Amino acid sequence: MSLVGVLARCILAVLSFLQCLLPHRKGTIPEAGFILNKLLDLLFEDDNLLKLEFLTDFYEDFGLFRFDNKIYIFDQKLTQTVINKLEKGAQDYLENSPLKDTILGSTNRSPEVRRAIATIFRKSVLEEKGNLIIKDVEKLCDNIAEEANAGQLVNVTDWSLRMAMDVVGHMLLQLDMHALEGQQQLLLECLMTILHRCYALGEITADSKEFKEANDKFEKLTTKILADALKIEDHHDEKRLVVKLHEACGFDLARDNMKLFLMAGSETTAATIPVLLYLLTTYTDVQEELRAEANENIDALYKDPSLALPKLEAVLKEVLRVYPIAPFISRQTLEEVNVGDFTFEANTDIKAFTWGIHRSKNQWSKSKEFIPFRFLDNSSRVSSKMYIPFGAGSRVCIGQHLAWLELKIATAVMLHRFNISKIQETRTLRFVTDWAHAVVHPDKDLLFRFEVR
Ligand code: HEM
Ligand SMILES: *[C@@H]1O[C@H](CO)[C@@H](O)[C@H](O)[C@H]1NC(C)=O
Ligand SMILES: *[C@@H]1O[C@H](CO)[C@@H](O)[C@H](O)[C@H]1NC(C)=O
Ligand SMILES: *[C@@H]1O[C@H](CO)[C@@H](O)[C@H](O)[C@H]1NC(C)=O
Repeated sequence: MSLVGVLARCILAVLSFLQCLLPHRKGTIPEAGFILNKLLDLLFEDDNLLKLEFLTDFYEDFGLFRFDNKIYIFDQKLTQTVINKLEKGAQDYLENSPLKDTILGSTNRSPEVRRAIATIFRKSVLEEKGNLIIKDVEKLCDNIAEEANAGQLVNVTDWSLRMAMDVVGHMLLQLDMHALEGQQQLLLECLMTILHRCYALGEITADSKEFKEANDKFEKLTTKILADALKIEDHHDEKRLVVKLHEACGFDLARDNMKLFLMAGSETTAATIPVLLYLLTTYTDVQEELRAEANENIDALYKDPSLALPKLEAVLKEVLRVYPIAPFISRQTLEEVNVGDFTFEANTDIKAFTWGIHRSKNQWSKSKEFIPFRFLDNSSRVSSKMYIPFGAGSRVCIGQHLAWLELKIATAVMLHRFNISKIQETRTLRFVTDWAHAVVHPDKDLLFRFEVR
């Protein structure tokens, strides 16, 4: 750390100490003043996620703070109340996003759409079709093996996105996307332009020509995918998701929600896998331990995809604790409301700040460290903590069981087939944040060395 950095840290420590001494009035929502903001700029430049994490520790006793006209909440009880009591709110940020009109952003719970799609997201229904995920994961591993045998490094960021897209196709849309076979190039490029270049990296704005072109192309491509899908005749008793969606909300909304499944369903799991592999190649003994578990259970897992893999799942849980890919949950007030001792004015953006909650030293021991088997501990030391990687309440992530099944199977099969190691160029993990869709990604593509076992 630079001298300026050290100095800034010292001043912050003093401020933090003074803050504890000052009595604070009930119901006050603290906000960083001029000096604190300057120090944060010095330390974290424009990385707002790190600033917010710092402020969570700084305002520990308050349970919330105001930053950039939004209120960030991390106190356990307040968070629960806010998630359950307030309306979902993200429309403002989604103004230019292709997901503007989908169930993700809308305050309205769109009951007719939910009814149409509820069954397919059910845990038992997904587990029954788990063999489709296994097939996609095998295809992923065959592709990786080919690169590995040719002595190439493997671009896990790219392969994870392709696999996740095929899984959404097979598990939800009942379509072959063939992304792992090299198709969907345009669709993937649109996704990268919209989600990465514009929303996460800020290289282009939502007004730019490039963004508009990508958005239009994304619309055309998804329109065609849906139109083609609707032409296929149903052979099963159970109607396909695309058909049900179409019946429930008409073509345009069905297409937009299909965009949502492709984006939310691919991006999130695809961002988690490189992070997981980064950790498993850093903590190589953990990789060995999980591989032993995977090897021992691989036949049983192929027979029954719902099989529990306690160690692997504990590690996955810890990955999503220390790096929650969805770093906050958006809510809004429509009118003035009282929550606990606080009054929130009408039309306030409120964020349940998952990233801060999961990394708060108030709640977890060694909170900012990856403690791989923390979740194997059944005692209340873990179970009483607030852990909300998929949100909570009636708007909890609808895809959480799919994400979990997919991550579990992909990790087990990859570890069974490969030794995985870091490459020299890999730097410490850093994240960029897509504030509109509430997702973080590693700031660079992650490449690893794979060896076929
Ligand atoms: C590691 C993977 C994932 C994480 C961390 C994640 C996280 C989240 C979070 C935090 C929310 C917001 C909850 C709230 O506002 O209370 C959400 C909503 C949602 N997620 Fe996920 N998600 C993941 C994977 C998926 C997948 C695979 C799909 C599949 C399509 C999906 C579809 C959705 C949808 C449709 C919503 C909106 C639900 C609603 O508004 O009622 N997610 N997700
Ligand atoms: C990894 O794959 C992505 C997506 O195809 C590509 O844009 C990127 O250039 C690749 N990264 C490297 C370092 O090869
Ligand atoms: C935790 O619970 C599981 C079953 O729920 C049990 O098999 C395991 O032994 C317990 N672990 C500890 C450390 O108590
Ligand atoms: C994989 O790793 C193990 C343990 O580190 C080692 O014994 C084995 O030789 C490796 N296999 C390959 C093919 O690299």
